[in-house]
Amino acid sequence: MYNLADRNIVLGVTGSISVYKAVDLASKITQAGAVLNVIMTPEATNFVSPITFQGVSGRRPYNDMWDVNPDIAEAHVALARQAELLVVAPATATFMARLALGLPEEMVSLTALATRAPVIVCPAMDSQMYEHPATQEHLNTLGSRGIQVVGPEEGRLASGQMGPGRLSEVETIIGWIRHVLGRAGDLAGKKVVVTAGGTHEPIDPVRFIGNNSSGKMGYALAEAARDRGADVVLVSGPSALPGPVAVEIVRVRRAAEMRDAVIAGCAGADVLIMAAAVADYQPVETVRDKIKREQAETLSIPMVPTPDILMEVGSREALLKVGFAAESQDLIANARRKIENKQLDLIVANDITASDAGFATDNNRVVILDSAGGQAQLPLMPKYDVAWHILDRIVSLLAGRKSQAEA
Ligand SMILES: Cc1cc2nc3c(=O)[nH]c(=O)nc-3n(C[C@H](O)[C@H](O)[C@H](O)COP(=O)(O)O)c2cc1C
Repeated sequence: MYNLADRNIVLGVTGSISVYKAVDLASKITQAGAVLNVIMTPEATNFVSPITFQGVSGRRPYNDMWDVNPDIAEAHVALARQAELLVVAPATATFMARLALGLPEEMVSLTALATRAPVIVCPAMDSQMYEHPATQEHLNTLGSRGIQVVGPEEGRLASGQMGPGRLSEVETIIGWIRHVLGRAGDLAGKKVVVTAGGTHEPIDPVRFIGNNSSGKMGYALAEAARDRGADVVLVSGPSALPGPVAVEIVRVRRAAEMRDAVIAGCAGADVLIMAAAVADYQPVETVRDKIKREQAETLSIPMVPTPDILMEVGSREALLKVGFAAESQDLIANARRKIENKQLDLIVANDITASDAGFATDNNRVVILDSAGGQAQLPLMPKYDVAWHILDRIVSLLAGRKSQAEA
């Protein structure tokens, strides 16, 4: 998680039963390389001891605003100034009321009032409390002041009841943290369209022609582009992966649907990255009834080519186009041919015969080729890191275009 490394984050913890999840959140933020300070309300310490947060963050939490600290005279002011982001998770109904009304009575609301850093608030409480007009009014007030409210989610609550009020999942909160911290990144103001996953070309009502693409590379690209400030549209074929937060996701099934979604998404876009494994052929027709085994000795399905999405998008001066070439032979030669045929700016080539990289794995080993003949071989690395390298190349190509346009 590149954009959390060395970032100064303050995690505010208030007195909800879901405080135990904040321990995992604190641990994951720290593991991502951020400098994390935890602040707690006195009530929060009834649920989890500050020492647990000290253990996972490596720093002493601040839970008493009257504590005499020999190092800092006014801890809340110092933390508020240093913070690049304040995340309050879980946020109680009481805390939100205090923040909405401007009543800084403990460390978390005191710091929230004193900071000018972005604030994310993640409510957690019983459904009845959440739906109460007082809580809703305070939430609206916080939202209208530019505070990012994340959740709550629907599901099983501590009371055993089902309904809205569950603290958002840790991964979701981290997605929002990455998005908010990345807003001023080097892709800020750019619109990036990414395709991901495979496509399903239906044969009959229950069968289709598909492939092994999991969508992991495309989803990693969408997240990394979001983490660098881009507005991202992710056009995804069928995939088991959850949609990344703060990314517009368009779910499609067939190549023809993907073409339509990509063309629509590319309006006003700066970059198109085609990471999807789109079927090359589709059955001429989808049979209306399920094909029966007894119907024939052998079965032939006549096929026609699917739409060539990159060709149909066409070349537009302002749109930087990046393709992927998953090849089982002559990797570089085939990738070079594709870069020319499809008039791409970059192509990312990977050898799908490797067992430790490519389809459905968490890692990839790719070669990035550009239209000027340049070629960079990257070692095996997580797909998010591969995405980051591809975006580095895209950022420098965009900068080159900008300076050419200005010359
Ligand atoms: C067992 C228990 C669980 C609670 N869980 C929640 C909760 O999930 N959300 C909430 O808003 N309040 C919850 N409360 C009530 C708060 O702890 C109470 O309003 C407290 O004053 C909040 O203080 P704080 O916002 O300063 O942390 C709970 C109380 C108890 C006793």
